[in-house]
This record gives sequence, C-alpha cells and structure tokens, in this order.
Amino acid sequence: MITKDISGYYQFYPCIVTLVGARRKDKVNFMAAAWNAGLSFRPPLFGVSIHPKRFTHDMIVDSEEFTCNFLSMEHIDIIHGTGRVSGRDYDKVKLFSIPLEKSKVINCPTIESAYAAYECKLVHRYPVGDHNFFVGKVVAVHYNKNVLTGKNLLNPEKINFSLYLGSNSYISADPDSVQIMPSEIEIPMPQ
Ligand SMILES: Cc1cc2nc3c(=O)[nH]c(=O)nc-3n(C[C@H](O)[C@H](O)[C@H](O)COP(=O)(O)O)c2cc1C
Repeated sequence: MITKDISGYYQFYPCIVTLVGARRKDKVNFMAAAWNAGLSFRPPLFGVSIHPKRFTHDMIVDSEEFTCNFLSMEHIDIIHGTGRVSGRDYDKVKLFSIPLEKSKVINCPTIESAYAAYECKLVHRYPVGDHNFFVGKVVAVHYNKNVLTGKNLLNPEKINFSLYLGSNSYISADPDSVQIMPSEIEIPMPQ
C-alpha cells in the first residue's frame, strides 16, 4: 500500500525509551521520550525531541541541563507513567516512587534504578516541526557494569530493554535473536 496519509507513520518504532530528567529549584521531573538519539562521540552528544507543551521542555530551557535515564522492562510502570502524566499536575517522583541518585557534574539527579544514565549540559536547541530538539553534551555516564558484555555492550541476557512500539505498546529483545556480524564484509563479485 502507498498512501499520502502520513498520520500513522510509526514504522520507525521500536525505539528505546529514555526518561528525560530536569530540575528547576526543588522540583525534579521526568518524562518518557522515545525520540532520542546518540549524535556524536567527540564531543559526546545526545539528543531528545521534546514538544514545547511538555512541562519538562521549559525546565530544560531554564536550567540548561538534563539527564537521560534508561530503565529495564521491570520498571515499565515508571516508564509509561512518566509518559502519561505531567509534572505540571503531579510530583512524578513521589507518585511513582522514583529513587533518585545525585549527579556527579550537574544539579539534576539521575534515576538510581536505571541501568544507565547520562548527565547532559544543553548545547543546542533546534526547532524540528512541532517539537524542539535538545542537544546535550554528555558530561558523565552512570551504568551498571553487571549488565554489560566484555565489549561494554548491553547484554540482552542480563537486561530486558524497554523498546516502545507506539500506541502504549512495549517490547523487549529476545537474547536468542542476537546476531554478531563481521566488521569487514566480503564484497560479492559483480556477476
Ligand atoms: C513511551 C512514550 C514515549 C514518549 N516520547 C516522547 C518524546 O519523544 N517526545 C515528547 O515530547 N513526548 C513524548 N512522550 C510524551 C511525554 O512523555 C508526556 O507528554 C509526558 O506526560 C510529559 O511530561 P511533562 O509534562 O511532565 O514534561 C512519550 C510518551 C510515552 C508514553
């Protein structure tokens, strides 16, 4: 089927969900963001696309820093909950009993139960359609060594990733589906 109706263009899912944390004065807030991406190694840059009407949006504009927290499927209630209620109406840290961990460099805390978290300082903000894309310089990384392989990759035997399929649906990875490919491939001879 080919259609010019782009209202259901969800085929780029599944995406890993990050919980974007922000702090303004004593208020700490987290929101789920599936639209996130690694952008650069040197300097280390990570980006999240956030709609201006999110409470988190202006918190980051004001504080110029944020955290990105990766939680496993065991914490799906926190992941989904922070994506369905606003910090404007609720204290999500209390509501979902989110355990906080003090950051090393920035003032905004990370989530203690995250298997990995980035401390980011805001370096750019770009309008992208109806969202704004926040680019953060990663100034500290928190991770649980026990869930990594010898190559420092996430080990799907040890961690149930939370991947978002869209429309309130989540999926995890089957460790048996991992395929390790050669870094140099054999170029097939032209026929
Ligand atoms: C799984 C999931 C992924 C989401 N991804 C994004 C996203 O990438 N960008 C965005 O602006 N909102 C996204 N949302 C919606 C926000 O998380 C949601 O509106 C949230 O309540 C905003 O919280 P806040 O008002 O406290 O900032 C997502 C929601 C869910 C459930």
